[in-house]
Amino acid sequence: MALPELEQFLKDFRHATDENTLERLVLSKYQGNEVDLNRITVRPILIKGDLLLSFLYEYETNHVTKNLTLENAISFLENAIGENFKNAHLVTNDWEIQLSLSKKGKVLINKHRNKNNKSETANQQHLSHNKDKKRFVEQSRPYLRELGITDAQGDVIPSMSRKWKQINRFIEVLSNAIVNTGLADREQVHIADFGSGKAYLTFAVHDYLSAQLGVNTRVTGVELRQNLVDLCNQTANKLCLNGIQFEQGDVKHFAAKDINVMIALHACDTATDYAIHMGIRAGAEIIMCSPCCHKQIRPQLKSPSVLAPLLLHGIHLGQEAEMITDGLRALLLEANNYDTQVFEFISLEHTSKNKMILAQKRKTPRDNSLIFQQIDAIKSFYGIEQHCLEQLLKNQ
Ligand SMILES: C[S@@+](CC[C@H](N)C(=O)[O-])C[C@H]1O[C@@H](n2cnc3c(N)ncnc32)[C@H](O)[C@@H]1O
Repeated sequence: MALPELEQFLKDFRHATDENTLERLVLSKYQGNEVDLNRITVRPILIKGDLLLSFLYEYETNHVTKNLTLENAISFLENAIGENFKNAHLVTNDWEIQLSLSKKGKVLINKHRNKNNKSETANQQHLSHNKDKKRFVEQSRPYLRELGITDAQGDVIPSMSRKWKQINRFIEVLSNAIVNTGLADREQVHIADFGSGKAYLTFAVHDYLSAQLGVNTRVTGVELRQNLVDLCNQTANKLCLNGIQFEQGDVKHFAAKDINVMIALHACDTATDYAIHMGIRAGAEIIMCSPCCHKQIRPQLKSPSVLAPLLLHGIHLGQEAEMITDGLRALLLEANNYDTQVFEFISLEHTSKNKMILAQKRKTPRDNSLIFQQIDAIKSFYGIEQHCLEQLLKNQ
């Protein structure tokens, strides 16, 4: 639509974006060919320090986001306003401008001062605040609503606030590892999530890599329980996410190939060992797991008698078993050419399962013989006969 009113409207949009005063642009009264599309909301967004425009397509049953540069956004709007959308509502800090087309094709412009004036400084602060805080997950992402983390207004549902924090922290840790290992520059990345459960993280990881980093991402969630597998596949279909799929299976028997990132969050007991083993065998660049219940090592432990009064308390015995199980996992990863860190994933206030083992594949292998000696020494000190991961690695 090459109308002077539209030209002026787009000038105002460009000016607001350049001046950092754009709040939002809403395109409505859609009359194009896309089934179920209701409206598009456009907002400024900072990604890796670049200002882009986030287009949220609101369909009847799902939402899709596309981030465009200003020039691409303007050329999209030139074609879309008037043709497909009969209404465009621009809100800046200072102005509200409504452009609408009557049935007879007449253009109506209504421009008035924005009564809820937000200063430019507030906008700057809002954007740079997001940047400084490095909010890795955007609250408006459609999958969050579908998984019941946010409500219809995009607010976090109070009972899901722990999960929301966990998702954010998880993506933060993963994003650093993705930068370190150079995976963001790959043409395609394959991620396996073992014990995916309700798949909060599976969807978050897929969304972060594909929608935010623009990497062609395939994610496979593996889960024992068929009902969860069906539910998660339905959710992926509903959100039209082709790169994500769930398979029913036991990680102990799952044959994975070509994995770049292996995730296992709270996979029970030795399922974590099988998942780590799978990651090592598949040559994954990143292995990330947060172990859960440490049953295998505890009955084998023979601690020196001087520690008996401390280990009298079951909780201490449990903590000791956990430290040794995960410490040996970390050493085994080191011995298999991974730089490995063990750290608090999210504070105890949010969950009791708060440990993360993060392993990143070394680019150049090194002599690991000392680590194998350390593993043997620890095992013999505690009288450990069997450690599941060690056994799996020996048998491969
Ligand atoms: C505590 S839930 C964690 C779910 C998800 N990773 C999360 O953090 O939200 C553990 C999941 O692992 C699944 N699981 C346990 N052992 C498994 C195995 N051997 N193979 C595949 N899935 C397993 C369970 O059915 C359960 O859904």
